[in-house]
Amino acid sequence: MEHICQVYKPFPIQIDRARGVYIYSKDGKRYFDSFSGIGVLAFGHGDEDIKKVMIEKMERYIHTSNFFFDEDAEEVAEKLVKKTGRTGRVFFANSGAEANEAALKAVKKLRKGLIVSFEKNFHGRTIATLSLTGFENLRKPFEPLVPEVIILPYNDVRSFEFFLEKRGTEIAAVFVECIQGSGGLNVLSKDIARLIMQAKIDFGYLLVADEVQSGLGRTGKFFAYQHFDLQPDIVTVAKALGGGLPLSAALFLDEVKDVFGYSDHGSTFAPNPIALAGAKVVLSKLSDDFIESVAKKGDFLKKELLKMTPRLIQKIKGLGLMLGVEVGVDTNFLRQTAMKNGLLLNIVSNNIVRLLPALNITLEEIKEMVDLLERSLDEVNYGRDHAEKVDSSKS
Ligand SMILES: Cc1ncc(COP(=O)(O)O)c(C=O)c1O
Repeated sequence: MEHICQVYKPFPIQIDRARGVYIYSKDGKRYFDSFSGIGVLAFGHGDEDIKKVMIEKMERYIHTSNFFFDEDAEEVAEKLVKKTGRTGRVFFANSGAEANEAALKAVKKLRKGLIVSFEKNFHGRTIATLSLTGFENLRKPFEPLVPEVIILPYNDVRSFEFFLEKRGTEIAAVFVECIQGSGGLNVLSKDIARLIMQAKIDFGYLLVADEVQSGLGRTGKFFAYQHFDLQPDIVTVAKALGGGLPLSAALFLDEVKDVFGYSDHGSTFAPNPIALAGAKVVLSKLSDDFIESVAKKGDFLKKELLKMTPRLIQKIKGLGLMLGVEVGVDTNFLRQTAMKNGLLLNIVSNNIVRLLPALNITLEEIKEMVDLLERSLDEVNYGRDHAEKVDSSKS
């Protein structure tokens, strides 16, 4: 790939086609996709209902620009806002970073002051969203970034209390990721959630919930913040929204719903009409019953994972079908071994396998995924133990 920036480490697989939880390569192999396009394909690859409406709409038109209201835009926006149980307005964009960018812009219009984020939060890679991202290694090469951003330790009640004492009155907004998708599937503690809400009341700052990865049923609730007593002013979603096509949204709720007026913000592409057609189907499939089934499948997946010997896995984190499996082996080797065994793995934070399977995965498919993971971990462990034995026999 001589002409492509080397920012990714793709699998050495040439994709022929993909269906459900499987990706098929041109050389005839079948792979289990354990992270469904980084959580984008909530209903797996090639969902027939999504495909049908997309093709129908594409036959009529593909793009119109923001000089036209799309026939599906209001319905998608209304459904998203309804799921918060509040009033609100939606700004559509194309990616998670853009949705967070819109959130940040709204915060800046409404309040002057500090923006608080947390270590290992991931909010995107544009300059503004990178500024809020709690990964020093990602930020460093691009500094100086947006000023007045304070990154505090995640789930650390004491340090947040200390910060509130010193500078609580200066805070314009707090960005939370209730489950840190890229940061290792850490779940917000109930204590810090309570403190964030109490301080929001005391100091009047805005609360932004980044639900780009955790939203839309992934954790067993429509929004992950609904597991906690949080009342965000702004909620961002993306990933699964467009049924596989780029579509994201920033939801501005209650008092902040009219933050953007004419020409305050915009996008040439968003919302793409085909992605909106997909979003209508995605949202119609995300019924309460279906989301409850996600929670149950998440419990089932956790139980199956826990059956593995503690030697193979160290910890399981996350909620619903957004789980992290902490492993104590060389994850590069694990990724390769799993691929050889027909399982595609996504590794975050060096030693965590991030599982984001399709939300309509079956129990049998969950078992198959866990079996493949166990086999791969076994092989990697055997290789390591074997190497250790050879090493000690040498000394
Ligand atoms: C929580 C969260 N926020 C923001 C982003 C950025 O989204 P995008 O890559 O679509 O810009 C991601 C991407 O993984 C994410 O997980």
